[in-house]
Amino acid sequence: MRKPLVAGNWKMNLTPSEGARLIREIQSAFHDAAEVVVCPSFVALIDALETGAPVGAQDVFWKESGAFTGSISAGMLANLGVTYCIVGHSETRGRFGKLEVDESCLGYFSETDETVRLKIVALLAAGIAPVLCVGETLAEREAGNTDAVIQGQLSAALMGISSTDASRIVVAYEPVWAIGTGKTCDTPEAERVCGMIRSSLTGLVDGAAEEMRILYGGSVKAANAADLFAQPNIDGGLVGGASLIADEFKAIIQAAK
Ligand code: 13P
Repeated sequence: MRKPLVAGNWKMNLTPSEGARLIREIQSAFHDAAEVVVCPSFVALIDALETGAPVGAQDVFWKESGAFTGSISAGMLANLGVTYCIVGHSETRGRFGKLEVDESCLGYFSETDETVRLKIVALLAAGIAPVLCVGETLAEREAGNTDAVIQGQLSAALMGISSTDASRIVVAYEPVWAIGTGKTCDTPEAERVCGMIRSSLTGLVDGAAEEMRILYGGSVKAANAADLFAQPNIDGGLVGGASLIADEFKAIIQAAK
């Protein structure tokens, strides 16, 4: 039986004190039927952890230590008490800005399939559960390539990962066109893609596929959360904008009961 997970991705929002205040406002909605985790910016992690709430990071660098200015290792996050970490978000893969950024820059600014995999390996070694984001752009969907794009992202990210390790990974299906746009993927299609993800996982990390949680992310709000979370292959949500509004996020947490 998979326990639902409701994760709030605060992105580049909230100071440390604002974040701690928000957590104290939502804590009354936590319940035993689901796990809740908030993912603040790096600078707000410590204040968030001091509230006692489960806390995730939004990114990590895969090397243990060294001359990597501006980077944070998985060991550093684990030492603080961080238990989850997002990897491969469309905003860090650079897919979000694809139209605005010159193609030649993407190699410098973006995660690649290989760096996503290296981050997963580093997180697992440090005892942190990776939240692996996958999803297609609008152009990829319109070209009929949704499933192939996601299968490619999954197989690259999970290459060489044992099924024991894979059972600790959470996959988040985040269609790029639904992020921050107010456009939610309709529930039957979100369930279809999450079911396709589970079938693909069977081929990649056989024994773990039924245990792994698959979240939906992209304009999740109080009004659509219960419907999405009721689907057999959707085990919770990765919530952006709505996780910054206490009443909205509390209602989403309740929807995972
Ligand atoms: P929104 O919920 O704001 O669409 O963001 C989703 C997301 O990117 C979560 O990681």
